[in-house]
Amino acid sequence: MPGGVQTEVKPYQMFINGEWVGSKSAKTFPVYDPSTEEVIAQVPDASAEDVNRAVAAAKAAFEEGPWASTTAQERGRVLFRLADKVRQNLAALAELECRNTGKPIVEAEFDLNDVATCFEYYGGQATKVVGYVNPVPDNAMSLSLKEPVGVAGQIIPWNYPLLMAAWKLAPALAAGCTCVLKPAEQTPLTALEFAKHFADCGLPPGVVNVVTGFGETCGAPIVQHPDVNKIAFTGSAAVGKIIVKQAADTVKRVTLELGGKSPNIFFADADFEAAIDGALFGVFINQGEVCSAGSRILVQKSIYRKFVEAMTEKAKKIKLGPPLERETKMGPLVSKEQYERVNEYVAIGKKEAKLASGGGRPEQIGKGYYVLPTIFYDVSNSARIAREEIFGPVAAVIPFEDEKDAMKIANDSPYGLAAAVWTRDIFKAMRAVKSLRAGIVWVNHMQPTYVEAPWGGYKQSGFGRELGPWGIEEYLETKQVHINLNEAPIGWY
Ligand code: NAI
Ligand code: MG
Repeated sequence: MPGGVQTEVKPYQMFINGEWVGSKSAKTFPVYDPSTEEVIAQVPDASAEDVNRAVAAAKAAFEEGPWASTTAQERGRVLFRLADKVRQNLAALAELECRNTGKPIVEAEFDLNDVATCFEYYGGQATKVVGYVNPVPDNAMSLSLKEPVGVAGQIIPWNYPLLMAAWKLAPALAAGCTCVLKPAEQTPLTALEFAKHFADCGLPPGVVNVVTGFGETCGAPIVQHPDVNKIAFTGSAAVGKIIVKQAADTVKRVTLELGGKSPNIFFADADFEAAIDGALFGVFINQGEVCSAGSRILVQKSIYRKFVEAMTEKAKKIKLGPPLERETKMGPLVSKEQYERVNEYVAIGKKEAKLASGGGRPEQIGKGYYVLPTIFYDVSNSARIAREEIFGPVAAVIPFEDEKDAMKIANDSPYGLAAAVWTRDIFKAMRAVKSLRAGIVWVNHMQPTYVEAPWGGYKQSGFGRELGPWGIEEYLETKQVHINLNEAPIGWY
């Protein structure tokens, strides 16, 4: 019902061991539509006892269920079927994602396509996991075998809900792991809808469990559980640091994707129109709720004034509105909490720098967590709005003198997830590619990324890589096998 208002509040259960269940405590919590501020669903409020149940199911499925003896080919086919289900239900899932996150429907459809592509990719990868014969200097055959790491705890954020679920589930299943997935408390709905298809696609009970709850009461018990072998987390740096510490007690494998404060660098010789577009797209897509948002916009001094003016003029034309309307380019932020957090940063920015545009909510929209695309300029790289992740539509424009200056400012950040550089000079571009300390560097673009390519951060943006062959590697252990070919005794004693 595009444009309409959902009046009923849908009750959901969560998915544990192939069954739809409530929380042991019977508590639930509300889920909102951030464009209307209304409750659209109630989901179970899971705590440690529910997590224990989900982990026990995942452990049993890993050790003795039918999943434990599936072939890579069978797992691949399951993943292809999951992809098909996403494509068949794409419109409905995209609408639900749009409604729950506030992201524009067109972007939600893009995301859902990427979800399907991710399952397809790892459907293929399942049969590409190979071991080695190691050339050891002895009369022995030495092998290295790849095996699934076991039960994976997967804790994901709210900015790309089902896509983040796919990035975690697809490689884990391809590897043969079993999963306990915790969606963000703000956006659990698409994962729950998707789980309705698991059995049809050939996933036995317990292989993927979806638990809904909050970070401290549902996320932390997953991280602390002795039977969870690996944690894959995407979210804030603050929580990432807690997870590393808590995972230490049980020596879990951990991968972290913690966002950043990514520089988008514009040299004077860049194509000007493309540059303005790229600066806006880099920081305002998905309302700026993007881990790789180009939130520090570094502009060479000779074009700086003109750049800020052109950017400002174009930013004012960005269409904010109801997320279900196809012309909408920016919806509301995901939650009241995020709206308040972003507005706090806007207030800080007003003290630290100059405001070129935005800086509040759109006057014509009464309800919903909308924030105008906001551009601060003359920002010092030591300002809080240049150092801390805001995760909203707030750009910090910083002038620079020359190439050396640009690289110094760009790398002067605790984070290192992404960077982009705009220039027509191939030498300058390649030097930047080498000097930028980031997990992805774009040249004359910012944001596109593909399931075939690695994703992850340098420095405090995290460790480990998702997607591509790197992504499945994080769900694999490596076993050395030594086969003695001498029939005689060792002969040592
Ligand atoms: P968050 O890091 O608290 O939440 C992300 C996930 O972690 C959610 O599923 C949450 O329930 C879970 N979680 C929270 N505390 C936990 C704990 N102690 N143990 C285990 N799991 C826990 O992020 P939040 O509060 O929603 O947003 C705060 C800021 O984090 C944002 O403003 C943004 O800067 C950053 N963020 C970065 C993301 C990224 O893609 N890198 C995604 C979401 C938020
Ligand atoms: Mg939090």
